[in-house]
Parts: sequence; structure tokens; C-alpha cells
Amino acid sequence: MTTTVTAADLYERVSHVIPAIEWATMVDDVEAIMRLKAERNAVILAHNYMTPEIFHAVADITGDSLALAREAVDVDADVIVLAGVHFMAETAKLLNPAKTVLIPDLRSGCSLAESITAEDVRALRAKHPGVPVVTYVNTSAAVKAESDICCTSGNAVEIIESLGAPKVIMIPDRFLAANIARKTGVEVITHPGACEVHERFTPLDIAEIRTSWPGVTVLAHPECPPEVVDVADYAGSTAQMVNFVSTEHPAKVALITECSMSDNVAQQFPGTEFVRPCNLCPHMKRNTLASIRHALETLTNEVTVPADVADRARAAVERMLAVKVAK
Ligand code: 13P
Ligand code: SF4
Repeated sequence: MTTTVTAADLYERVSHVIPAIEWATMVDDVEAIMRLKAERNAVILAHNYMTPEIFHAVADITGDSLALAREAVDVDADVIVLAGVHFMAETAKLLNPAKTVLIPDLRSGCSLAESITAEDVRALRAKHPGVPVVTYVNTSAAVKAESDICCTSGNAVEIIESLGAPKVIMIPDRFLAANIARKTGVEVITHPGACEVHERFTPLDIAEIRTSWPGVTVLAHPECPPEVVDVADYAGSTAQMVNFVSTEHPAKVALITECSMSDNVAQQFPGTEFVRPCNLCPHMKRNTLASIRHALETLTNEVTVPADVADRARAAVERMLAVKVAK
């Protein structure tokens, strides 16, 4: 994006969800971020859970965890601002060791990443010798470094199948592991981690949505408990949810995931009504225009990975990226 884009142009992208009076309080930060991006030769990679003024107005590249990892490989800039959570910034750094990777708020963690340590992975390997370790990208680089290969919710089935093993260790999300095990027929050993956003959804929530919005199509993220996935119409990563809406054109849809998803995709699909029961991720919500501006202004909150960890963690991420996935 060039600096010739005006704040008024950017407002057109978000006017469906942000009232003009609220946008007026954002314009100063938006203009500063656009100027700083040009001055610093910086790009902003933003996860689908960013609020609309980040997702639509200041981000250069948006997507699910898999897309952000893939896009990070080709970034042509000196500075990457990862508007997301810490493990995403680490992955961007692994794939761009020579670039400066910033995160708007260093406290942007993740309940899954915090649920497991490198020592836990070594203990699992010792208990199950010879069983390959598949690690969800929602983990620290230190945990990735102990793993054979990474996966995301968008490619987990293909990654497990690519191993050709009857049994795998899939960590740290016990719900994702259970949901994926059912699709592959592979025996899965897991770890008691969970996403604090998706574990809160229940089958009763889905029943209430179906009662309140008859005919609604329910799309659930596979970090939800299996009993929630069982009563949904489809389960997939955030990008797979968008693909589903794009190809199936449901009249009414409920995205059983983080709140910003529906806000961000609603405008793209004017023929679909988005019903919005959702849960907020407090870590994702630490990203604000002010925190992005501050990171770019001061070049602080740099994310680095120690070299001994980085080489092994990068290998696990690159093995994942080498596995072909049907879109
Ligand atoms: P995806 O966007 O890869 O589906 O991930 C969801 C998530 O919870 C990321 O933290
Ligand atoms: Fe972690 Fe869940 Fe938040 Fe994603 S939504 S960052 S998995 S806590």
C-alpha cells in the first residue's frame, strides 16, 4: 500500500462496522501508522481476530495462522509488525531471521502456548519412544524445537496423514487433537491444553443459536470441544470458515470462534447474515492502533529467538510448509 491512500479511503473499508464518530477518534493513529510504515519500510501482518480498524485499514497481509506463516516467508520489508499473539511473531521471526519483528504488546500470549514447555515434550517423547511429535503452531519456539513437524488448524489432517504413522503425539490442544483424530483414523496422544476462547462454547450455546436464528448454518473452529463440533454443520480454521461462506453462500451463518471474525468478513458477503454470539480473546485484543503506532514509532517490543532454538524450531515449521494442502 502506498502513502497516497487517504484516511477517507480507509474509512470506506470499515464504515459497515465502525460509526463515523468512532472513526474520528482513530484517524490520527491510522495516519501515523501509514506514515511510519513507509518511513520504516514496515509491513503489518494481522490475524483474522484483529479488530476491523486494524484488519481492514492498516494491515498489509491478513489471514489465519497458516496464511500468516506462509506469507511471512515472502515479506519484502525491513520490519514486520505482527498484529496477533507472541507465537505468531516468533514464527515470523523464525522465517525472517534477518528482519526486525515487532509485536504491539509483548503480553499478547495464548492459553495453548502457555500450557506446555519444552520439558513436557521431552517427557512425552521418553514415554512414547519413536512416536512422531506434531506441534500446533500455537506454541513457543522452544516447544516447536522439540517437535518433528508443526501444524495449524487449517492443515492438521494433511500433516498427520503425511507422516504415514499409526500413532502420533499431537500437542498441546486436546480438543484439536480429538477433532483431528476422528478425521484421520490415526491414534493420537495429546496434552491437556485448551484455547480459553473456544473451550467455553457448549452444545447448549449451539442449540440456543439454532432456536434464535432458525435455518442458521453453524461453523465451528476445531479448537472447540468435540461435542460442539458434533452439533455444528462444519468445522475448520478461520480461513476455512471464510472459504465455506464464499462457496456455500449460507443465508445466515454463526461463526463459533472469536468475535472479530464476523465483523471482518461480513462486508465481503452482503448476501449472508452473520449472527454474532462469540467469545473475545483477551490476548488478541491487546493489539490496538495505539500499540501498533507505539511499536512502529519506537521500534520496541522486538521478538527474537535464541539461535540454538531457532534452527530446530524453523525446521519443524518448514517441514509443515512443505506439505501440500488442498485449499
Ligand atoms: P486459525 O486462524 O489458524 O484458525 O487459528 C485460530 C486461533 O485461535 C489462533 O490463535
Ligand atoms: Fe490462543 Fe485461543 Fe487466543 Fe487463539 S484465540 S490466541 S488459541 S487463546
